[in-house]
Amino acid sequence: MRRYRIAWLPGDGIGTEVCEAARVVLDAAGFEADYLPGDIGWECWRREGDALPARTLELLRQTDSAFFGAITSKPAGDAVRELAPELHHRGLTYRSPIVRMRQMLDLYVCLRPCRAFPGNPLNYRENIDLVVFRENTEGMYIGVEFPTIPEEFRAVPAMAKLPDDAAISIRSVTHRASRRIVEAAFQYAVKHGRRKVTAVHKANVLRATCGVFLEAAKQVAARYPGIEFDTANVDAMGMWLLKNPLNYDVIVTTNLFGDILSDLCAQMVGGMGFACSGNIGETYAVFEPTHGSAPKYAGQYRINPLAAILAAGMMLEWLGEVDTAREIERAVSEAIARGAPRTYDMGGSAGTMDMAHAVAGCLQQTHTAR
Ligand code: IPM
Ligand code: MG
Repeated sequence: MRRYRIAWLPGDGIGTEVCEAARVVLDAAGFEADYLPGDIGWECWRREGDALPARTLELLRQTDSAFFGAITSKPAGDAVRELAPELHHRGLTYRSPIVRMRQMLDLYVCLRPCRAFPGNPLNYRENIDLVVFRENTEGMYIGVEFPTIPEEFRAVPAMAKLPDDAAISIRSVTHRASRRIVEAAFQYAVKHGRRKVTAVHKANVLRATCGVFLEAAKQVAARYPGIEFDTANVDAMGMWLLKNPLNYDVIVTTNLFGDILSDLCAQMVGGMGFACSGNIGETYAVFEPTHGSAPKYAGQYRINPLAAILAAGMMLEWLGEVDTAREIERAVSEAIARGAPRTYDMGGSAGTMDMAHAVAGCLQQTHTAR
């Protein structure tokens, strides 16, 4: 195995604890890497007025991939109030660093696997095995928002009709970004032997933007006759996923719908303690547990680290260390099936590091068995 360079971005809150747990497992798996720590998160914002400083972006450019824990974010007003005094009145606005990384590095795929591990008491149904492909660069996340409508917009007839006190958020969807996320979903389906891809939209209402997405999805699907393709409105999809989760396989959708549906899918397989993400571009990727920084649990080492550990496995797969990635997933599965230790979300009282060591222990057994 070659020696990798990994940008290590634990962030704050429980981000640091789950990253420590992921490292235990990465080390036990024999993954050879230099972990280069990077500053990111709430403290950077307060001290420097930038939650994702330029030096951290530079670090990303010099590494093979990044691993990100979690960071605290607060509403715009609170964010400005918490800035160091000398940074007040500079007109700084807080934007989520993870969203910025996705956009600045063009990490256009947000890959979110949701698998019901056998023996997980939190499974909504057994055998759920869903994969969400969320478009990660555009849609409702472009950050083009207006608390009141700018005067020049009033020249557009549809805007002129809006109430005076309306706030607006603009959603942009391109054919190119839609095509490449759907393409990524189909390529994944082919590579992993998946039977079906479902494109999720709301084209009956968001005619322009979802229209573009749906059209692109149909064009891509036509090139994959071996994979079943269907489409669903996002509202109905929420209902059907809950009713018949086993009817679905790979789900592909625009940014905000993917954000929402991936939480629904995560909850069906145990909640945020099991939700892992890969933010993947052509040449770089950032892996993360999907959960937030849970400040009220910070420092207690109580949080389930499996989401971070599974994200570490996803990173290894993306780097090409496929066998080691599989071993990590198998070890997680094995640790869950054994029934102990369990963190509080699973009904137990074990801590973050107990769980990490349990997974590491299962890994070592695989090593010895070989
Ligand atoms: C996620 C999160 C982020 C998002 C937040 C933290 C900005 O909910 O990764 O799903 O909305 O994308
Ligand atoms: Mg989310």
